[in-house]
Amino acid sequence: MDVIRRGILLAAAATLVPSYAAGQGSDTVKVGLILPLTGPFASTGRQIEAAARLYMAQNGSTVAGRKIELIVKDDTGTPDITKRIAQEMVNDKIAVLAGFGLTPLALAVAPIATQAKVPEIVMAAGSSMITEASPFIVRTSFTVAQSAAPMAEWATKNGIRKVVTIVTDYAPGIDAEKAFSEPFVKAGGKVDNVRVPLRNPDFAPFLQRVVDAKPDAVFVFVPSGVGSIFMKQFVERGLDKSGVRLIGTGDVTDDDILNGMGDVALGVITSFHYSAAHPSAANKAYVEGYKKLNGTRPNFMSVGGYDGMRMIYEALKKTNGNASGDALLAAMKGLSFESPRGPVTIDPATRDPIQNVYMRKVERVDGELWNVEFATTPSVKDPLHK
Ligand code: PHB
Repeated sequence: MDVIRRGILLAAAATLVPSYAAGQGSDTVKVGLILPLTGPFASTGRQIEAAARLYMAQNGSTVAGRKIELIVKDDTGTPDITKRIAQEMVNDKIAVLAGFGLTPLALAVAPIATQAKVPEIVMAAGSSMITEASPFIVRTSFTVAQSAAPMAEWATKNGIRKVVTIVTDYAPGIDAEKAFSEPFVKAGGKVDNVRVPLRNPDFAPFLQRVVDAKPDAVFVFVPSGVGSIFMKQFVERGLDKSGVRLIGTGDVTDDDILNGMGDVALGVITSFHYSAAHPSAANKAYVEGYKKLNGTRPNFMSVGGYDGMRMIYEALKKTNGNASGDALLAAMKGLSFESPRGPVTIDPATRDPIQNVYMRKVERVDGELWNVEFATTPSVKDPLHK
Protein backbone atom coordinates (compact mmCIF):
# COMPACT_ATOMS: atom_id res chain seq x y z
CA MET A 1 0.00 0.00 0.00
CA ASP A 2 1.45 3.36 -0.87
CA VAL A 3 1.99 5.95 1.79
CA ILE A 4 -0.79 8.26 0.58
CA ARG A 5 -3.45 5.53 0.47
CA ARG A 6 -2.43 4.33 3.93
CA GLY A 7 -2.69 7.90 5.19
CA ILE A 8 -6.20 8.27 3.79
CA LEU A 9 -7.31 4.96 5.33
CA LEU A 10 -5.91 5.90 8.73
CA ALA A 11 -7.63 9.27 8.59
CA ALA A 12 -10.92 7.60 7.69
CA ALA A 13 -10.54 5.11 10.55
CA ALA A 14 -9.84 7.96 12.95
CA THR A 15 -13.15 9.63 12.11
CA LEU A 16 -15.01 6.36 12.77
CA VAL A 17 -13.50 5.85 16.23
CA PRO A 18 -14.48 8.57 18.67
CA SER A 19 -11.39 10.09 20.23
CA TYR A 20 -11.65 9.77 23.98
CA ALA A 21 -8.94 11.47 25.98
CA ALA A 22 -9.40 9.29 29.03
CA GLY A 23 -9.88 5.54 29.17
CA GLN A 24 -8.39 5.79 25.68
CA GLY A 25 -8.92 3.08 23.14
CA SER A 26 -11.91 1.59 24.91
CA ASP A 27 -15.52 2.44 25.59
CA THR A 28 -15.00 2.02 29.32
CA VAL A 29 -14.79 4.99 31.66
CA LYS A 30 -12.97 3.94 34.81
CA VAL A 31 -14.07 5.58 38.05
CA GLY A 32 -11.74 4.99 40.99
CA LEU A 33 -13.37 5.13 44.41
CA ILE A 34 -10.79 5.49 47.17
CA LEU A 35 -12.30 5.15 50.64
CA PRO A 36 -11.53 4.21 54.23
CA LEU A 37 -13.14 0.75 54.30
CA THR A 38 -11.23 -0.40 57.39
CA GLY A 39 -10.02 1.50 60.46
CA PRO A 40 -11.83 4.10 62.61
CA PHE A 41 -13.53 5.80 59.64
CA ALA A 42 -14.75 2.63 57.90
CA SER A 43 -18.41 3.63 58.25
CA THR A 44 -17.76 6.54 55.86
CA GLY A 45 -16.34 4.19 53.24
CA ARG A 46 -19.11 1.65 53.69
CA GLN A 47 -21.83 4.29 53.30
CA ILE A 48 -20.29 5.88 50.20
CA GLU A 49 -19.55 2.61 48.42
CA ALA A 50 -23.10 1.38 49.08
CA ALA A 51 -24.61 4.59 47.73
CA ALA A 52 -22.42 4.63 44.62
CA ARG A 53 -23.48 1.05 43.87
CA LEU A 54 -27.13 1.99 44.50
CA TYR A 55 -26.87 4.84 42.00
CA MET A 56 -25.44 2.49 39.37
CA ALA A 57 -28.05 -0.19 40.09
CA GLN A 58 -30.79 2.42 39.59
CA ASN A 59 -29.31 4.14 36.53
CA GLY A 60 -27.49 1.38 34.67
CA SER A 61 -23.77 1.21 33.99
CA THR A 62 -23.73 2.77 30.50
CA VAL A 63 -23.81 6.56 30.01
CA ALA A 64 -23.60 8.36 26.66
CA GLY A 65 -22.50 5.10 25.05
CA ARG A 66 -19.72 4.51 27.55
CA LYS A 67 -19.54 1.76 30.13
CA ILE A 68 -18.79 2.88 33.66
CA GLU A 69 -16.39 0.65 35.54
CA LEU A 70 -16.25 1.32 39.28
CA ILE A 71 -12.99 0.34 40.95
CA VAL A 72 -13.15 0.47 44.76
CA LYS A 73 -10.02 0.54 46.95
CA ASP A 74 -9.48 0.77 50.71
CA ASP A 75 -7.03 3.44 51.87
CA THR A 76 -7.60 2.60 55.59
CA GLY A 77 -7.87 6.37 56.23
CA THR A 78 -4.11 6.88 55.73
CA PRO A 79 -3.06 9.76 53.39
CA ASP A 80 0.09 8.01 52.05
CA ILE A 81 -2.02 5.03 50.99
CA THR A 82 -4.68 7.26 49.39
CA LYS A 83 -1.94 8.96 47.40
CA ARG A 84 -0.30 5.70 46.28
CA ILE A 85 -3.63 4.24 45.15
CA ALA A 86 -4.52 7.45 43.26
CA GLN A 87 -1.16 7.42 41.44
CA GLU A 88 -1.62 3.76 40.47
CA MET A 89 -5.10 4.51 39.20
CA VAL A 90 -3.85 7.45 37.13
CA ASN A 91 -1.12 5.24 35.64
CA ASP A 92 -3.92 2.83 34.78
CA LYS A 93 -5.83 5.54 32.82
CA ILE A 94 -8.53 6.24 35.34
CA ALA A 95 -10.97 8.94 34.11
CA VAL A 96 -12.18 10.11 37.52
CA LEU A 97 -10.82 9.82 41.07
CA ALA A 98 -13.52 9.86 43.73
CA GLY A 99 -14.27 9.23 47.42
CA PHE A 100 -11.93 10.80 50.05
CA GLY A 101 -13.33 10.17 53.52
CA LEU A 102 -11.29 12.76 55.43
CA THR A 103 -9.69 16.12 54.65
CA PRO A 104 -6.07 14.85 54.80
CA LEU A 105 -6.96 12.08 52.31
CA ALA A 106 -8.51 14.55 49.84
CA LEU A 107 -5.54 16.91 50.14
CA ALA A 108 -3.01 14.11 49.57
CA VAL A 109 -4.41 13.49 46.09
CA ALA A 110 -4.80 17.14 44.98
CA PRO A 111 -1.35 17.45 43.31
CA ILE A 112 -1.94 14.20 41.41
CA ALA A 113 -5.30 15.43 40.13
CA THR A 114 -3.74 18.71 39.00
CA GLN A 115 -0.79 17.10 37.28
CA ALA A 116 -2.78 14.36 35.54
CA LYS A 117 -5.75 16.66 34.77
CA VAL A 118 -8.09 14.08 36.29
CA PRO A 119 -11.19 15.28 38.18
CA GLU A 120 -11.08 14.54 41.92
CA ILE A 121 -14.62 14.19 43.21
CA VAL A 122 -14.69 14.78 46.97
CA MET A 123 -17.71 12.85 48.23
CA ALA A 124 -17.04 13.15 51.96
CA ALA A 125 -14.35 15.48 53.29
CA GLY A 126 -15.63 18.87 54.47
CA SER A 127 -12.98 21.48 55.22
CA SER A 128 -13.32 24.65 53.18
CA MET A 129 -9.73 24.72 51.88
CA ILE A 130 -10.03 21.46 49.91
CA THR A 131 -11.37 22.86 46.64
CA GLU A 132 -8.58 25.44 46.65
CA ALA A 133 -5.95 22.67 46.63
CA SER A 134 -6.55 21.80 42.95
CA PRO A 135 -8.62 23.27 40.08
CA PHE A 136 -9.59 19.64 39.33
CA ILE A 137 -11.39 19.11 42.67
CA VAL A 138 -15.19 19.19 42.68
CA ARG A 139 -17.08 18.50 45.90
CA THR A 140 -20.47 16.81 46.25
CA SER A 141 -20.49 16.54 50.04
CA PHE A 142 -20.61 19.75 52.10
CA THR A 143 -18.43 22.11 54.01
CA VAL A 144 -18.50 21.94 57.78
CA ALA A 145 -18.47 25.74 57.90
CA GLN A 146 -21.60 25.81 55.74
CA SER A 147 -23.52 24.07 58.55
CA ALA A 148 -21.78 25.70 61.50
CA ALA A 149 -22.60 29.28 60.48
CA PRO A 150 -26.44 28.95 60.59
CA MET A 151 -26.11 27.37 64.06
CA ALA A 152 -24.53 30.58 65.37
CA GLU A 153 -27.63 32.49 64.32
CA TRP A 154 -29.99 29.94 65.83
CA ALA A 155 -28.09 29.88 69.15
CA THR A 156 -28.10 33.68 69.35
CA LYS A 157 -31.85 33.82 68.75
CA ASN A 158 -32.58 31.06 71.25
CA GLY A 159 -31.17 32.55 74.44
CA ILE A 160 -27.75 30.93 74.29
CA ARG A 161 -25.10 33.44 75.43
CA LYS A 162 -22.16 31.39 76.72
CA VAL A 163 -20.79 28.44 74.74
CA VAL A 164 -17.87 26.05 75.01
CA THR A 165 -16.95 24.74 71.54
CA ILE A 166 -15.38 21.27 71.40
CA VAL A 167 -13.99 20.33 67.99
CA THR A 168 -11.68 17.70 66.57
CA ASP A 169 -8.27 19.30 66.12
CA TYR A 170 -7.81 19.31 62.34
CA ALA A 171 -8.97 21.46 59.42
CA PRO A 172 -12.74 20.75 59.45
CA GLY A 173 -12.90 21.13 63.25
CA ILE A 174 -11.07 24.43 63.10
CA ASP A 175 -13.47 25.54 60.33
CA ALA A 176 -16.44 24.61 62.52
CA GLU A 177 -14.99 26.51 65.47
CA LYS A 178 -14.40 29.61 63.35
CA ALA A 179 -17.67 29.57 61.38
CA PHE A 180 -19.65 29.21 64.63
CA SER A 181 -17.62 31.41 66.98
CA GLU A 182 -17.06 34.50 64.83
CA PRO A 183 -20.73 35.35 64.12
CA PHE A 184 -21.74 34.20 67.60
CA VAL A 185 -19.27 36.55 69.31
CA LYS A 186 -20.17 39.35 66.90
CA ALA A 187 -23.78 38.98 68.04
CA GLY A 188 -22.71 39.40 71.67
CA GLY A 189 -22.05 35.78 72.69
CA LYS A 190 -19.11 34.46 74.71
CA VAL A 191 -17.11 31.40 73.63
CA ASP A 192 -14.37 29.21 75.01
CA ASN A 193 -12.72 27.11 72.26
CA VAL A 194 -11.44 23.60 73.01
CA ARG A 195 -9.80 21.14 70.54
CA VAL A 196 -9.52 17.36 70.87
CA PRO A 197 -7.07 15.12 68.90
CA LEU A 198 -8.32 13.28 65.79
CA ARG A 199 -6.76 9.92 66.66
CA ASN A 200 -8.02 8.08 69.77
CA PRO A 201 -10.04 11.03 71.07
CA ASP A 202 -10.70 11.30 74.81
CA PHE A 203 -13.26 14.00 75.54
CA ALA A 204 -13.40 13.45 79.32
CA PRO A 205 -10.86 16.09 80.43
CA PHE A 206 -12.44 18.69 78.12
CA LEU A 207 -15.93 17.83 79.30
CA GLN A 208 -14.77 18.36 82.87
CA ARG A 209 -13.91 21.93 81.87
CA VAL A 210 -17.48 22.25 80.62
CA VAL A 211 -18.84 21.02 83.97
CA ASP A 212 -16.77 23.73 85.71
CA ALA A 213 -17.54 26.54 83.24
CA LYS A 214 -21.34 25.92 83.26
CA PRO A 215 -22.03 27.41 79.82
CA ASP A 216 -25.52 27.61 78.30
CA ALA A 217 -24.46 25.14 75.61
CA VAL A 218 -21.68 22.97 74.25
CA PHE A 219 -21.17 23.30 70.49
CA VAL A 220 -19.53 20.16 69.10
CA PHE A 221 -17.95 19.07 65.85
CA VAL A 222 -16.60 15.52 65.53
CA PRO A 223 -16.15 13.66 62.24
CA SER A 224 -18.64 11.00 61.18
CA GLY A 225 -18.45 7.92 63.40
CA VAL A 226 -16.98 9.64 66.48
CA GLY A 227 -20.31 10.94 67.84
CA SER A 228 -20.99 7.79 69.89
CA ILE A 229 -17.80 8.16 71.95
CA PHE A 230 -18.56 11.83 72.52
CA MET A 231 -22.15 11.15 73.66
CA LYS A 232 -21.02 8.35 76.00
CA GLN A 233 -18.52 10.63 77.72
CA PHE A 234 -21.00 13.53 77.80
CA VAL A 235 -23.37 11.30 79.78
CA GLU A 236 -20.60 9.88 82.01
CA ARG A 237 -19.86 13.43 83.18
CA GLY A 238 -23.55 13.92 83.97
CA LEU A 239 -23.81 16.68 81.39
CA ASP A 240 -27.05 15.31 79.93
CA LYS A 241 -28.75 16.17 83.24
CA SER A 242 -26.87 19.42 83.93
CA GLY A 243 -29.01 21.82 81.93
CA VAL A 244 -26.10 22.48 79.53
CA ARG A 245 -27.57 22.19 76.05
CA LEU A 246 -25.85 20.19 73.35
CA ILE A 247 -25.69 21.77 69.88
CA GLY A 248 -23.43 21.20 66.89
CA THR A 249 -23.17 20.33 63.24
CA GLY A 250 -25.05 17.16 62.30
CA ASP A 251 -21.90 15.04 62.17
CA VAL A 252 -22.36 14.24 65.89
CA THR A 253 -25.88 12.80 65.45
CA ASP A 254 -24.89 10.98 62.26
CA ASP A 255 -27.74 8.77 61.03
CA ASP A 256 -25.34 5.82 60.89
CA ILE A 257 -24.96 5.77 64.70
CA LEU A 258 -27.90 7.80 66.02
CA ASN A 259 -30.13 4.87 66.98
CA GLY A 260 -27.27 3.27 68.91
CA MET A 261 -26.93 6.35 71.14
CA GLY A 262 -30.30 5.82 72.81
CA ASP A 263 -32.43 8.38 74.60
CA VAL A 264 -29.50 10.57 75.69
CA ALA A 265 -29.49 11.95 72.17
CA LEU A 266 -33.11 13.14 72.45
CA GLY A 267 -33.40 16.90 72.08
CA VAL A 268 -29.93 17.48 70.65
CA ILE A 269 -30.12 20.35 68.15
CA THR A 270 -27.89 20.31 65.08
CA SER A 271 -27.59 22.14 61.78
CA PHE A 272 -26.83 20.11 58.66
CA HIS A 273 -27.42 19.56 54.96
CA TYR A 274 -28.84 16.02 55.24
CA SER A 275 -31.14 14.02 57.48
CA ALA A 276 -32.45 10.55 56.59
CA ALA A 277 -35.76 11.99 57.85
CA HIS A 278 -35.80 14.79 55.23
CA PRO A 279 -39.48 14.86 54.21
CA SER A 280 -39.27 14.81 50.41
CA ALA A 281 -40.43 12.16 47.95
CA ALA A 282 -36.90 11.96 46.53
CA ASN A 283 -35.46 11.24 49.97
CA LYS A 284 -38.11 8.69 50.92
CA ALA A 285 -37.31 6.77 47.72
CA TYR A 286 -33.59 7.09 48.44
CA VAL A 287 -33.82 5.82 52.02
CA GLU A 288 -36.01 2.89 50.93
CA GLY A 289 -33.69 1.97 48.05
CA TYR A 290 -30.62 2.19 50.27
CA LYS A 291 -32.20 0.11 53.03
CA LYS A 292 -33.31 -2.56 50.57
CA LEU A 293 -29.79 -2.91 49.23
CA ASN A 294 -27.87 -2.63 52.51
CA GLY A 295 -30.26 -3.25 55.37
CA THR A 296 -29.26 -0.02 57.16
CA ARG A 297 -30.17 3.66 57.15
CA PRO A 298 -28.18 5.96 54.82
CA ASN A 299 -26.26 8.86 56.37
CA PHE A 300 -24.91 12.14 54.98
CA MET A 301 -21.76 10.47 53.69
CA SER A 302 -23.83 8.17 51.50
CA VAL A 303 -25.57 11.15 49.92
CA GLY A 304 -22.21 12.66 48.90
CA GLY A 305 -21.39 9.34 47.21
CA TYR A 306 -24.77 9.00 45.51
CA ASP A 307 -24.67 12.56 44.16
CA GLY A 308 -21.02 12.14 43.20
CA MET A 309 -21.99 9.29 40.89
CA ARG A 310 -24.91 11.37 39.64
CA MET A 311 -22.53 14.22 38.84
CA ILE A 312 -20.22 11.92 36.86
CA TYR A 313 -23.18 10.54 34.90
CA GLU A 314 -24.67 13.98 34.21
CA ALA A 315 -21.31 15.38 33.15
CA LEU A 316 -20.74 12.49 30.72
CA LYS A 317 -24.17 13.09 29.22
CA LYS A 318 -23.29 16.75 28.68
CA THR A 319 -19.96 15.91 27.03
CA ASN A 320 -21.52 13.17 24.86
CA GLY A 321 -19.21 10.65 26.44
CA ASN A 322 -16.01 12.69 26.30
CA ALA A 323 -14.27 11.75 29.55
CA SER A 324 -11.26 14.05 29.29
CA GLY A 325 -10.61 15.84 32.57
CA ASP A 326 -11.10 19.32 31.14
CA ALA A 327 -14.39 18.42 29.46
CA LEU A 328 -15.80 16.69 32.55
CA LEU A 329 -14.77 19.51 34.82
CA ALA A 330 -16.42 22.13 32.62
CA ALA A 331 -19.60 20.01 32.55
CA MET A 332 -19.66 19.59 36.33
CA LYS A 333 -19.36 23.30 37.14
CA GLY A 334 -22.79 24.79 37.64
CA LEU A 335 -24.67 21.47 37.60
CA SER A 336 -27.97 21.57 39.52
CA PHE A 337 -30.00 18.60 40.67
CA GLU A 338 -32.53 17.47 43.25
CA SER A 339 -30.65 15.39 45.77
CA PRO A 340 -32.18 13.36 48.62
CA ARG A 341 -30.99 16.31 50.77
CA GLY A 342 -32.87 18.91 48.68
CA PRO A 343 -31.76 21.14 45.79
CA VAL A 344 -28.01 21.29 45.10
CA THR A 345 -25.97 23.44 42.70
CA ILE A 346 -22.24 23.00 42.16
CA ASP A 347 -20.93 26.55 42.51
CA PRO A 348 -19.04 27.14 39.23
CA ALA A 349 -16.66 29.54 41.00
CA THR A 350 -15.67 27.41 44.02
CA ARG A 351 -16.69 23.88 42.87
CA ASP A 352 -18.48 23.41 46.21
CA PRO A 353 -22.15 22.53 46.67
CA ILE A 354 -24.59 25.34 47.36
CA GLN A 355 -27.33 23.72 49.41
CA ASN A 356 -29.94 24.15 52.12
CA VAL A 357 -28.89 23.86 55.74
CA TYR A 358 -31.59 22.53 58.06
CA MET A 359 -32.05 22.94 61.80
CA ARG A 360 -32.91 19.56 63.30
CA LYS A 361 -33.85 18.11 66.66
CA VAL A 362 -33.38 14.47 67.66
CA GLU A 363 -36.80 12.92 68.25
CA ARG A 364 -38.17 9.42 68.64
CA VAL A 365 -40.57 8.65 65.79
CA ASP A 366 -42.11 5.18 65.34
CA GLY A 367 -39.62 3.72 67.81
CA GLU A 368 -36.49 5.08 66.15
CA LEU A 369 -34.35 8.18 66.66
CA TRP A 370 -34.29 10.69 63.82
CA ASN A 371 -32.91 14.16 63.15
CA VAL A 372 -36.24 15.89 62.54
CA GLU A 373 -35.91 19.10 60.52
CA PHE A 374 -37.75 22.18 61.82
CA ALA A 375 -36.24 25.15 59.93
CA THR A 376 -34.34 25.77 56.70
CA THR A 377 -31.67 28.24 55.63
CA PRO A 378 -31.88 28.01 51.83
CA SER A 379 -29.00 27.91 49.33
CA VAL A 380 -26.08 28.30 51.74
CA LYS A 381 -22.64 28.95 50.24
CA ASP A 382 -19.44 28.10 52.05
CA PRO A 383 -18.83 31.10 54.34
CA LEU A 384 -15.06 30.67 54.60
CA HIS A 385 -14.24 31.07 50.91
CA LYS A 386 -12.90 34.52 50.23
C1 PHB B 1 -13.22 15.74 57.03
O1 PHB B 1 -12.21 15.11 57.38
O2 PHB B 1 -13.18 16.67 56.24
C2 PHB B 1 -14.54 15.35 57.63
C3 PHB B 1 -14.78 14.02 57.94
C4 PHB B 1 -15.99 13.65 58.52
C5 PHB B 1 -16.95 14.61 58.76
C6 PHB B 1 -16.72 15.94 58.42
C7 PHB B 1 -15.51 16.31 57.86
O3 PHB B 1 -18.12 14.25 59.34
